[in-house]
Amino acid sequence: MDIWKIRGGSRLEGACFVQGSKNASLPIIAASLISPAETELMNVPRLRDVDSALRILRHLGCSAQQQGNDVYINSTGISENKIPHSLMLEMRSSVIFMGALLARCGEARLSLPGGCQLGKRPIDIHISAFRQMGAEIEEDGSNIRCSAARLRGCELRLPFPSVGATENIMLAACAAEGETVIKGAAREPEISALAEYLRRMGCDIEGEGSDTIVIGGFTPKGQLSYRVISDRIVAATLACAAACTGGDVELRAVEPEHFSTVLYFLKQAGCDIISDKYTVRLRSDGKLRAVGDVCTQPYPGFPTDAQPVLMAALLKAHGRTHITENIFENRYRQVEQLCRLGADISVNGRVADINGVDMLYGSSLEATDLRGGAAMIVAGLSAEGETLIHDEGHIKRGYEDLDQVLCSLGADVKLEKMKGTANGFQYTYEKTQN
Ligand code: UD1
Repeated sequence: MDIWKIRGGSRLEGACFVQGSKNASLPIIAASLISPAETELMNVPRLRDVDSALRILRHLGCSAQQQGNDVYINSTGISENKIPHSLMLEMRSSVIFMGALLARCGEARLSLPGGCQLGKRPIDIHISAFRQMGAEIEEDGSNIRCSAARLRGCELRLPFPSVGATENIMLAACAAEGETVIKGAAREPEISALAEYLRRMGCDIEGEGSDTIVIGGFTPKGQLSYRVISDRIVAATLACAAACTGGDVELRAVEPEHFSTVLYFLKQAGCDIISDKYTVRLRSDGKLRAVGDVCTQPYPGFPTDAQPVLMAALLKAHGRTHITENIFENRYRQVEQLCRLGADISVNGRVADINGVDMLYGSSLEATDLRGGAAMIVAGLSAEGETLIHDEGHIKRGYEDLDQVLCSLGADVKLEKMKGTANGFQYTYEKTQN
């Protein structure tokens, strides 16, 4: 159990580099499987989910190591197409290995990770696409076997621009006979990053960033080196933290365009924001205004992953903000915890109504999920007194050294590890080594 101890009230000030993107790294790590090759990836964050993805590769017979932010993969020796349940459970996005294994081995055997805290997360769009491409799918409880002697390209029309399904199809399509056209594709920057990586691997692919992606032939190129894009949600989180603490922060090595909708609302809230190609400087006097209506949408709309942290930044903003969550059915689990700090939020179905309060007061909270946990950190930074966040490891799934990054900007944040004893009542504490 991680314990985040946050003493609120410090303005965030200074400059920091933003980590590489988790959600871009994971499908690219899976993509390294699709042809026998040596891959070097740079700017990969050191995170539990990345570690789980590399362990899946090693289980399949590849070599895969991370040194600092570099990852080295050699996928020539693949000897297995089955991913055990224990590894699947570690990370929901392990489902992305299905398309990669189908492309490389013609067969993928895995179990479904099941629903998670954000509500039902089915994979029907993935499965339906693979079937249309000629794959045979057998489901036995939560085990799934997907096979195809040869996949065939076809035109697929997605009922919703699912990020994971678009990525999975892109991977499988590399091995398909003929052209695959994905209509209604997701347009997120992570999709464009994957397309760029596949192109460098030798895939004929175009249209990424639009709603139609066309994947043609694949001529493997062997060795490959690729730098992962920066993490737009981590950038958004730091921007929100700076905004609500009255900070003055420069975010470096970011792609401002990728989180421009978040910056738009922070500007509406009263922040002064200057961006150039790879930098964003945000200045705030800490007296934010409510921003009216925020609706989460597929990219280029406002990202669902930034919804909890923007909510946290606006808890003390003058007036009312209405958030409508359109992507996940249960993405307000942070609300109950934020209210323990004194926030005034009411939730009705997909809509959360935030009525700005004058003060927030430190309290003891429980991290509910990755971005919900990050939201509690943002709120704790602008609360009076100490906030303790008990976290079973959610936050570290997506944020690399977040305590150190925040401390370097002047925050008072400590990350400690709590060891429970058999009776669950006595604990010892130790500083977490990152
Ligand atoms: C990815 C991101 C996640 C982000 C989400 C939406 C990664 C590792 N995760 O998740 O951080 O919050 O995009 O931007 O990149 N759906 C179906 N059937 C399907 C697939 C999806 O109904 O077959 C639904 C989901 O239940 C959800 C919505 O579509 O309600 C969006 O899901 P999707 O875009 O697939 O998200 P992920 O790829 O899981």
